Amino acid sequence: MNSGCTLWFTGLSGSGKSTISQLVASRLRALGARVEVLDGDITRTLLCQGLGFSREDREENIRRIGFVCELLSRNDVIAIAAAISPYRSSRDELRRRIPNFIEIHMNCPVEVLIERDVKGLYKKALAGEIKQFTGISDPYESPVSPDLTIDSSSESIEAGVAKILCHLEKLKIIPRAGAELPTAEREVKSIPTFN
Ligand code: ADX
Repeated sequence: MNSGCTLWFTGLSGSGKSTISQLVASRLRALGARVEVLDGDITRTLLCQGLGFSREDREENIRRIGFVCELLSRNDVIAIAAAISPYRSSRDELRRRIPNFIEIHMNCPVEVLIERDVKGLYKKALAGEIKQFTGISDPYESPVSPDLTIDSSSESIEAGVAKILCHLEKLKIIPRAGAELPTAEREVKSIPTFN
């Protein structure tokens, strides 16, 4: 049985992709799952070094991250990708290729992100100091039928994490909360966390 999958977070910069993906990863690791996180801000320094933010470069960026996710998923790893991935066609291509591809839309109104502006990038983008900035001067194509949607302007991070874990339980990628675990895993049973 293949217990690998890809959790693909898509959404604007600052929408919570990195935060939620790290939290989900640590919950899954506590359950004994093998997990890798591919975060756009990090992959762009190595795997995707040299790529910019033109449509072509973003598509290449997503193709490379997707390729690694595909390899991991095939080998029973839970791959978690957090990249804006603004183009629907790029994401749809990954869905066709990757087994157990789970698209999670981090949906947050751009006005809220401008207000929060954790990295100070929206201010620069609005001032024209950063060109082709997603949501300001570059497109973001929302998923039409994502597997999950999390609205980080109205839902808590904890609720978002719970939603994802619950979905993975339904797909039988992880055991149901409270389900009888094999002996070796019983000690960690008190740590998690599905509720
Ligand atoms: S993607 O569009 O190719 O999927 P990716 O997720 O890898 O983007 O990188 C996005 C991150 O790069 C943002 O969180 C932000 O920190 C930074 N960044 C720098 N320039 C831009 C830009 N023009 N548009 C969006 N993000 C940018």
